Amino acid sequence: MIYLDNAASSYPKPPQVIEAVAGCLKDVAASPGRGQHKMALAAGRIVRDTRSRVARLLGVPDPADLVFTANATEALNLAIRGWVRPGDRVVTTWVEHNSVYRPLAALAAQAGVVVELARCDRTGRVDVADWRRRVTAGTRFAVFSHASNVLGTIQPLEELIEIAKEAGVPVLVDAAQSAGAIDLDIAASGIDMLAFAGHKSLLGPQGTGGLYISPDLDVAELTRGGTGTSSQGPQPLIRPDRYESGTYNTPGLAGLGAGVAWLGEMTVPEIFRREQERIQRLIAGLAGIERLVIHGPAPNEPRASLVSISPGWASAAKTAAALDRQYDIYVRSGGLCAPKAHELLGTESAGVLRLSPGAFSTDEQTDQAVAALRELERRA
Ligand SMILES: Cc1ncc(COP(=O)(O)O)c(C=O)c1O
Repeated sequence: MIYLDNAASSYPKPPQVIEAVAGCLKDVAASPGRGQHKMALAAGRIVRDTRSRVARLLGVPDPADLVFTANATEALNLAIRGWVRPGDRVVTTWVEHNSVYRPLAALAAQAGVVVELARCDRTGRVDVADWRRRVTAGTRFAVFSHASNVLGTIQPLEELIEIAKEAGVPVLVDAAQSAGAIDLDIAASGIDMLAFAGHKSLLGPQGTGGLYISPDLDVAELTRGGTGTSSQGPQPLIRPDRYESGTYNTPGLAGLGAGVAWLGEMTVPEIFRREQERIQRLIAGLAGIERLVIHGPAPNEPRASLVSISPGWASAAKTAAALDRQYDIYVRSGGLCAPKAHELLGTESAGVLRLSPGAFSTDEQTDQAVAALRELERRA
C-alpha cells in the first residue's frame, strides 16, 4: 500500500504518537482540569505539555494564547465568527478553503458582511498589488492560506502581512497545510491569528487542531460551558479557558504532543528540505507522462508537499479509483474544498487528482505512483 493523501490527513504516524494515545487511554483517561486527584492532574499535565510544545514549535511566546480545537475548520470558524461583526469588510483570496469561505458566506448572508477576494494567478499566487489595493484601513481582517491545498502554492507570508500591518489590519493565517511542514514563527512574523490542523503535518491524531489568538485581539468565544475553573458566574475571560469549554480530546492531545516532539527532533526545516526534494522528483516524473497536465507553481519552485494533476486520458476520479484498485496507491480526487481555485484552473466540474507525499513517504513510493500513472496512460 502506498499512501499519498497526506494533505488530507497524515499517515503513518510516528510510533511515539500511537504509544502516547494508547498510554493516555490506558492510564490517564481522567478529565483534565477537573478534580484534584492524581489522574486528573496527570491528564492536565498532558494538555499543558502539548500546548507548550506546539507553542514552541510555532513561535508563540505565551502558550495560553494557543487554544485547542477539533480541527483547522473549527479554529477558522472561531477566528472568523468570533472576530467579525455585522457590516464589516473582510479581505481574502481566490484560493481559500471552504472552511474560510463558508463561514464568511454565512456572515455575508446573515450579517451584511462584505467579503472581497484578492486575485491570484493561475499558479495560485496572490496578486500582491491587488492585495494592497483591498487590504486598507477599515478592513476588519485579512485572511489567507499559507499554502494552497489544491496548488501547493506557498504565499509570500511576510509581504502580505507587512501590507496588512501598514494598513492596521489584523491577519488570520490558515496554516492547515503548512504547520509542521514549513517553518513558522508567529511572533517574528507578526501574525495576529493562525489556525492549524493537528492531524496533518504536525503528525497528531484526527480530532486535533488549534488557533493562536494574539493577546491584543478580543475574539469572542463560540462555545460556553464548564471550564474546570471559576464555576461561579459567566464564562471566564482568562485564556485558554475562555475558548475551551467541555472535556478535552486528551488522548488526541497526548498524540499531538508526541508528534510535535518527533518534529522537534527532526526539525521542520529538515523535513521541508526533504519534502521539497521528493515533490520535485515526483513532478519531474509526472512531466514525463504524456496527456497529463501538472497544476501549480513552476517546477523547482518551493511548494507544499502536494501536486494536483489532470490526466488527459480519463477523469481524475476514474484514475484515482484505478490507482486504488489496481495498484493500492491512495490519492485524493475531485473538488478539493477550494472552489475558486478550481475556477482558476478550469477544473470546477472535472476536479483534479492530488498526490501528497508526507514525512514518511519514500522516493521509491512516489516513483511507483509515476510508473502506475504512466501505465494507465499507455493502456488508455
Ligand atoms: C487549506 C486548508 N484549510 C483548512 C482545512 C481544514 O482542515 P481540517 O480538516 O483540519 O478541518 C484544510 C484541510 O484539508 C486545508 O487544506
